[in-house]
Amino acid sequence: MRNLITSGLKKLVKSESRYSKGDRQAVVISVATVKGGVGKTTTAVNLAAAMAANHDKRVLLIDLDAQGHCTTSLASVVDAQATEAIPVHKVLLDEEQREVLDAAVATEIEGLDITLADAELADAEGRISQKIGKELLLRDALEMTRTHYDVILIDCPPNKGNLTLNALLASDQVLIPTDLSPLSVQGADELIDTVLTVRRRLGHELEVLGVVLTRVDGRTVTINEEVRQTIDEAWGELVLEQHIGINTRLAQAQLRGEPIFEHAPESRGAKHYRKLAEETLDRLGQGRR
Ligand SMILES: Nc1ncnc2c1ncn2[C@@H]1O[C@H](COP(=O)(O)OP(=O)(O)OP(=O)(O)O)[C@@H](O)[C@H]1O
Ligand SMILES: [Mg+2]
Repeated sequence: MRNLITSGLKKLVKSESRYSKGDRQAVVISVATVKGGVGKTTTAVNLAAAMAANHDKRVLLIDLDAQGHCTTSLASVVDAQATEAIPVHKVLLDEEQREVLDAAVATEIEGLDITLADAELADAEGRISQKIGKELLLRDALEMTRTHYDVILIDCPPNKGNLTLNALLASDQVLIPTDLSPLSVQGADELIDTVLTVRRRLGHELEVLGVVLTRVDGRTVTINEEVRQTIDEAWGELVLEQHIGINTRLAQAQLRGEPIFEHAPESRGAKHYRKLAEETLDRLGQGRR
């Protein structure tokens, strides 16, 4: 009995983090939309790689999708020695107060770390519901982690479930990828609505960093023009200037488990993601001076 009470008290008093405070303050960006297969993961992975490699940023990529696609997209460059790291669902669910840093693994790309996801993250979606402050688990676990990075990108699952809500509540900004299909545009619009609800109901100052048009196919110009016009009218300056063209090299790079800059540095996909990294960093006021 005595033991039980004192361990509770110890937790109360000793809630200090195991990590020391770093000298950075990361901007946290969720890459999210409700529609599946529109390029969220491709965007999160290649933006993270471009920001680390071309802009000397310390970047952490959080794989928050149980499909584990960021994990597979970087499989060839993840540090094979990094066996100590725990999967990210443990950070959210362990009774012990964890930091996302416990799950961070180095990659061969200088400045880029990643947290790995596995199928158990799908269970986490349900188990999170039983936690007090269920939408704030990731935000709490990033408190110290943020001070070790310049940018933290979160790759979200294609829904508005608990994991996505955790990502949004932990983020300062959200980047919304959409292709030019009506369903995808609708999905992006729904996500913008969710951002507004998060702001109004939960009082969290979340900004839309931008909407990025993905998988743009130059061969369907007329259809594209029509959708593009509707998008511009609805979202105006939220739409980023740099779109991502359709490029099979991007899909190949994902299969190979490496960023496009390693796989095909001269490809159109690589050029577009390099420029997108510049534009997003400019919007964040972190561009090159
Ligand atoms: N610009 C592009 N050109 C060609 N193929 C692309 C492009 N962007 C993404 N793809 C391919 O389209 C598929 C879906 O992309 P991705 O995994 O990035 O989407 P997602 O939105 O993360 O999907 P999910 O909702 O399942 O997580 C992948 O096979 C990817 O390689
Ligand atoms: Mg994905």
